[in-house]
Amino acid sequence: MVHSLSGVVSSVTSTHFGAMPDGREVSLFSLVNANGVKADITNYGAIIVRLCTPDREGRLDDIVLGYNHLDGYLKGSPYFGAVVGRYGNRIGQGRFTLDGTTYTLAENNTPNGIPCHLHGGKIGFDKVLWTPEPHLVNNTPGLTLRYLSKDGEEGYPGNLSVSVTYSLENDNSLKIEYVAATDKATPINLTQHSYFNLRGEGCGDILDHVLTIHGSRTTPVDAGLIPVGTLAPVVGTPFDFLQPHAIGERIGAPDQQLKFAGGYDHNWVLDKPAGELAHAATVRESVNGRGLDVWTDQPGVQFYSGNFLDGSNVGKSDRKYEFRNALCLETQHFPDSPNQPSFPNTILRPRETYRTTTIYKFSAK
Ligand code: GLA
Repeated sequence: MVHSLSGVVSSVTSTHFGAMPDGREVSLFSLVNANGVKADITNYGAIIVRLCTPDREGRLDDIVLGYNHLDGYLKGSPYFGAVVGRYGNRIGQGRFTLDGTTYTLAENNTPNGIPCHLHGGKIGFDKVLWTPEPHLVNNTPGLTLRYLSKDGEEGYPGNLSVSVTYSLENDNSLKIEYVAATDKATPINLTQHSYFNLRGEGCGDILDHVLTIHGSRTTPVDAGLIPVGTLAPVVGTPFDFLQPHAIGERIGAPDQQLKFAGGYDHNWVLDKPAGELAHAATVRESVNGRGLDVWTDQPGVQFYSGNFLDGSNVGKSDRKYEFRNALCLETQHFPDSPNQPSFPNTILRPRETYRTTTIYKFSAK
């Protein structure tokens, strides 16, 4: 599908990306906007495989971690570029009680040896095949991906139908819209798990990237990275990104929260009215001028400084992804909300519609 408007061309094309172990075909969709910005997205895990954005000289580089072929993702990926769900982030002890029934989920993560449920379980939304529908509307390339998560899948209640729409706008923003509905009450928390390095994937660590987060509190965690239930002010701590700070500036500070996570891996409470689409965070790389602005209507953002990257994943340009070679800004509800009565509600009920939007806007200056 190619569309031309006043000389500029945006397009959506698809190629073969691989096959699932059961033989099902997997595609890679290439969305190119009128400025040549490109997002390659596969219907396996709704994964953003490549994101090529210009630096201040106009040079395009791929700024997300990932693999060239489906096989890389099938062999093992720490959620590179994926949509995670049904509940993104952690649920303490892999269980929650809803309307008097206790549900047991897989404990697929053990921070500091303490088991919990992470990112939807053993086969979360990052590891399933979505049904793709590419589109080109008003010169804007897009891709809608749909998935039906069956009642009981990964231990969650209710048949949940989910869609994610990616639109690569001509102001160089990638808009991500999630919609879901269920036939039984269920927790839901969908997010996008792209690992960014604004110098380019495989080009070293992100400690010099300068970050601003419009959140004056975090949800502090215990040693198992589960929120303790309080909100802690960031002022006077290494978590204060209200003004821009290099990520590496205070990451080694003698701070118990940083020690628990081996760096930043925490949820910031965004300073904005509930449900309002607002500016959440900015990351900037000063040498090439690339910037990323994150907008969301979600109440929180998990800033993860790639502390679990250890060189065991070899990426698209045959380079190892080492410790802190990328960062994630996962817009979301707070971790463990189904067990935390004081946190905003994450339960979706029949006849309600879950609808949220996150925007990653790319720039260079
Ligand atoms: C999230 C978590 C991290 C880590 C990564 C995946 O960002 O918060 O602790 O598990 O996913 O490696």
